[in-house]
Amino acid sequence: MRADFIIKNCAEIVTPLGSGEFKPASFETITDGALAAFEGEIVFVGKTAELDKVETVQGAEIIEATGKIVTPGFVDSHTHPIFGDTRENEFEMRIAGKSYEEIALAGGGIRSSVRSLRNTSKEELVERILPRLDRFIEYGTTTIEAKSGYGLTCEDEIKSLEVINELNQRHPLDLVPTFLGAHEIPDEYRDNNDGYIDLVINEMMPEVKERNLAEFCDIFCESHVFSVKDCRKILSAAKDAGFKLKIHADQLTRNGGTALAAELGATSADHLEYTDENDWEKMVNSRVVPVLLPGAVFFLGKEKYAQATRMHEVGLPIAIATDFNPGTCMSESMPFILTLACLKLKLKPAEALTAATYHAALAIDRGNLFGSLEVGKKADLVTWDVPNLSYIPYHFGVNLIKTVVKSGKIVYES
Ligand code: NIG
Ligand code: FE
Repeated sequence: MRADFIIKNCAEIVTPLGSGEFKPASFETITDGALAAFEGEIVFVGKTAELDKVETVQGAEIIEATGKIVTPGFVDSHTHPIFGDTRENEFEMRIAGKSYEEIALAGGGIRSSVRSLRNTSKEELVERILPRLDRFIEYGTTTIEAKSGYGLTCEDEIKSLEVINELNQRHPLDLVPTFLGAHEIPDEYRDNNDGYIDLVINEMMPEVKERNLAEFCDIFCESHVFSVKDCRKILSAAKDAGFKLKIHADQLTRNGGTALAAELGATSADHLEYTDENDWEKMVNSRVVPVLLPGAVFFLGKEKYAQATRMHEVGLPIAIATDFNPGTCMSESMPFILTLACLKLKLKPAEALTAATYHAALAIDRGNLFGSLEVGKKADLVTWDVPNLSYIPYHFGVNLIKTVVKSGKIVYES
């Protein structure tokens, strides 16, 4: 077999294993490991001593990884990076005691990001978001799911999705686009929820689909935003239009969004702090991936985290993600999310890594492409200056990454 990319003498290659099956993945550690890729795809993973099977082409990239731990690149399966201004003013209001819901109902929150995005041109947005994408890469993320949702007019939702698609062309990070027109009721429809829902279904959705600007459709199911009844209407229309489904469910209250995700066969249900075993059983039966977002719980100063270990016990492949957004989790750092997943969700380091890579790939329907270091998958990987896997979540708030590789090319080196 031929290779144009080789990494060898890795102290350990640590990776989940799986090619799209809906179940918690097994996990492998290869000591003195090596990996080879050709044209961005992994062709060999094993011991360095076995590398003689691989024929290296002229000009191949060769990485000496002596003393390094190697993991798959992170798949961040839930992000909202398409915003203009940041919201540190609301961060201060929350420190002073206001709740996220109070700020939202007073016109702040998502609606303040909407006003800002509407006033920002497409070109300016691209310039502001590029450094955010660099930061994802610097912290080891090689694929993100990226949502619209701060436009909330047909024009501004399309603008946001066009930005995602343009960034996907321009930047090494892979972006998987999600249409989130039903993120909030915008100012001009506060007295006419049904009018806004009609706009989402009858004007936004057909144009997004027609122009193939998004693969998934998502919605914010919450008592102060869209009810389960609204969500059923919007997501059923999205399903009929050919979108795969996601849903922000049971985050701040128990509202039934998770059961709806199972009813409609969503690819993932996200947040899930207020869910229980009845919901989890439905998710198993309908193969809905739980995407847990401990960074948002932490950043909102809340105490109630999702019951990850119990979800794992019933057979759900749990994913974790940042929820990167200017309101409830202003961080692109998956290593920090690993730390929270260990401390607050009680995942073991290998389980947290699996949740942040392979299970996360399942949550964006890419389980056969990303998230594990196996023959046939994308050569997306990270080398870490750490003595063992547990050290990654243990030494938190700093960057321990040495190299990030996307599709067999080095895209970051410290
Ligand atoms: O996932 N839940 C809805 N959306 C985001 C918050 C977005 C914002 O505050 O700007 C979330 O937490
Ligand atoms: Fe979110």
